[in-house]
Amino acid sequence: MDVRAEGQEAHYVQEPIPGEADLDVPGRLVRGALTPKRPATETAGMADAFPYYAGFSFEWARGKISEHHLSSDAVVLDPWNGSGTTTLAANSLGLRSIGIDRNPVANTVARLRCSGNPDTPPILTPNSSGAYEGSEPLESWFNPRTAKRFREWAQTFSAASASSAGTVALFRVVRATTKSFEGSNPTWVKRAKSDAERIDIGRSEIDELIVREQRFLAERLGSVSRTTAPSGILTADSAYLPLADQSVDLVLTSPPYLTRIDYAIAYARELAVLGIDIFAEKDLRYALMGTTLTRTQQPALSLGSAATELLAKVARHDSKASSGYYLKQVQQYMRDLSSGMDEVSRVAKSTAEMHLVVQDSYYKDIPVPLAQMCIEEAERRSWRFVKSKPYAVRRLLTSLNRSAQAYKKGEVSETVITFRRTQ
Ligand SMILES: C[S@@+](CC[C@H](N)C(=O)[O-])C[C@H]1O[C@@H](n2cnc3c(N)ncnc32)[C@H](O)[C@@H]1O
Repeated sequence: MDVRAEGQEAHYVQEPIPGEADLDVPGRLVRGALTPKRPATETAGMADAFPYYAGFSFEWARGKISEHHLSSDAVVLDPWNGSGTTTLAANSLGLRSIGIDRNPVANTVARLRCSGNPDTPPILTPNSSGAYEGSEPLESWFNPRTAKRFREWAQTFSAASASSAGTVALFRVVRATTKSFEGSNPTWVKRAKSDAERIDIGRSEIDELIVREQRFLAERLGSVSRTTAPSGILTADSAYLPLADQSVDLVLTSPPYLTRIDYAIAYARELAVLGIDIFAEKDLRYALMGTTLTRTQQPALSLGSAATELLAKVARHDSKASSGYYLKQVQQYMRDLSSGMDEVSRVAKSTAEMHLVVQDSYYKDIPVPLAQMCIEEAERRSWRFVKSKPYAVRRLLTSLNRSAQAYKKGEVSETVITFRRTQ
């Protein structure tokens, strides 16, 4: 059964749409040209530490930042930092960086990658009681004694100063041992419906798996050449960046797309390791940009023409709920994008530059021109459009659900849009 919600899409590969710089002879692509989307096989920059969705290619991000020849006191910001590719790439170039993300799972992975600590982290062993107040979120997949042993490890790691390596090791083990709860939809995870379905793993097997993963990550940490430049990884909302006005020199980022994927559920197991039961506590789901939940308080919004037209098309669409639920979702997404853009514009210096990576998509048969929408919203906030570079997105799996397939869709692309601040 495909439980993917309408409009959700699975796996992509990407190739540059030829621009002059990519062609060695007219009409032929230079082999191996870098694209923003991380190739599934990338290991550079510890991309293989944890499979975070929509991650940037490390080499691509590094190349993009180095084009700017920034001075060593410059600050690079990613307000939707995910697994921290931007911050790690900046660090590897000796630049200070700040990565903001609302999802603590993303920040745990980003902290591991950007820890800046070249020393191999100690291989920890559990020394905690595993006592948990309230209902244990890991019992969504594991029986009580298995969940308790995982909790003992989680508590040990969160009490240790170099905890992110241990916690990511735990993410890896929990993910690997709960594969049977993944359906064909990579962004949805099921839960055990009965005690019989809850996984039982012996204590020594759990310990062995976690120690093995800690060793793997310790070795991978050694593969990245870092500098001592500080990277601040903060759990915060892009609508309220905890940064001073005019403090950032370069923004390199990719906001969540308007594709209606619930990424809080996609990371339900890792959130459970962090003590968050995403099925019971809805705060994080409500807060994430692109959430499928509709918030109640919705302030009025003024938008550019591409977003206004999209909203009008969705409102007129004859399918069920388009003019109700779906229209509210697009409005909510645009509100979040607008607040993020307001904040990025506030913290950017008057000399700042920005690269936004966004993917167009479809709502049923209506194209969602996210790149154009972003250009308009940035221009309304004193950014000057410099250039855009599209990359074709080829669908590998046509695993859209049936009702989504009922609508004919064209090609979509992911675009890197470059802006400069207007003085
Ligand atoms: C496309 S991903 C970025 C991936 C990143 N470029 C990487 O290399 O891993 C977008 C990120 O935005 C985050 N996000 C969603 N809503 C947010 C919000 N309101 N404030 C801050 N971050 C948010 C998501 O958790 C997700 O990690």
